[in-house]
Amino acid sequence: MDKLDSFHHDVLRGLNDHPKWLLPKYFYDDNGAALFKRIMDMPAYYLTDCELEIFRDKTAELADTLCAQQEPFDLIELGAGDAMKSSFLLKHLVREQVDFTYMPIDICGEVLHTLRDRLHGDLPDLTVVPLHGEYHEMLREATEQSDRRKIILFLGSNIGNMELEDAHGFCRTVNRRLKVGDTMLIGFDLQKNPHTILEAYNDKEGITKAFNLNLLERINRELDGDFNINAFQHYQTYDPIDGGCRSYLVSLTDQEVNIGAEVICLAANEPISVEISRKYTPLEIDQMAIETGFAPLTQIADSKNWFVDAIWHVN
Ligand SMILES: C[S@@+](CC[C@H](N)C(=O)[O-])C[C@H]1O[C@@H](n2cnc3c(N)ncnc32)[C@H](O)[C@@H]1O
Repeated sequence: MDKLDSFHHDVLRGLNDHPKWLLPKYFYDDNGAALFKRIMDMPAYYLTDCELEIFRDKTAELADTLCAQQEPFDLIELGAGDAMKSSFLLKHLVREQVDFTYMPIDICGEVLHTLRDRLHGDLPDLTVVPLHGEYHEMLREATEQSDRRKIILFLGSNIGNMELEDAHGFCRTVNRRLKVGDTMLIGFDLQKNPHTILEAYNDKEGITKAFNLNLLERINRELDGDFNINAFQHYQTYDPIDGGCRSYLVSLTDQEVNIGAEVICLAANEPISVEISRKYTPLEIDQMAIETGFAPLTQIADSKNWFVDAIWHVN
């Protein structure tokens, strides 16, 4: 199935289900990537600042923990985006003349082009091999390209965008691709004051709303849809018991939407689930490592203790 067919297939599967859902990986067309950049710049969206602080202020600790074996490796970043945080690590490793290749993976081609050009200018000595596509498919390609040691980065609490069971499945799949001695670093957003969490996803300026609605606009643009964007409302929840922070688009009226030849019926107040951003406890993170075949090594936190980068080994 080509990319457009998969998008079409996943959209119809989700919108014909009950309750309705859309997959968050489709947020990131060029418009979505630009809107996400604006979200990351919002003061209320603390996640970026916390993880940026870890990469900026604890670069040497990260590098020493990740590269303890001192052998050449491939540094593979899943969903690299603009690599704003990992750039601190890249600069440090280049400065220390460490022998490694940087392989950013991203589903958005435009993002990868921009990143490659920027790194070429900023770090001309760095070898960059961009891989355009889905996490697992591109990770397979990366592991087939060389048998050097692998260090995987999965930042930005992207793991939080999966249901718990799917996050475990994701880590198990990555683990199967790796070998003894390989390492994985994952960014996790921690459970904290519920108001702080809710405000990060419910900004008054409406950038998160625009980001979520862009998914419907993308369906209109790419799949011949006719969503009336004004007939949907952004609705955000956070459950401090299970750590689930969820985004919905709620239909404001009874309506029919055409997607190509298909007709989707929505009732007034019917929600479409578009994203989960799960928040974890440190204990749940270690448990996830153990249950998915890794050995938890350490968790490096920001100064507020709001976010951790967990480092796991393959033994
Ligand atoms: C939330 S951004 C995070 C960017 C960066 N890792 C950071 O922490 O700042 C997520 C990135 O992952 C990419 N992405 C989302 N789903 C993906 C998938 N299934 N496969 C590959 N890349 C994906 C998006 O295009 C986007 O650039």
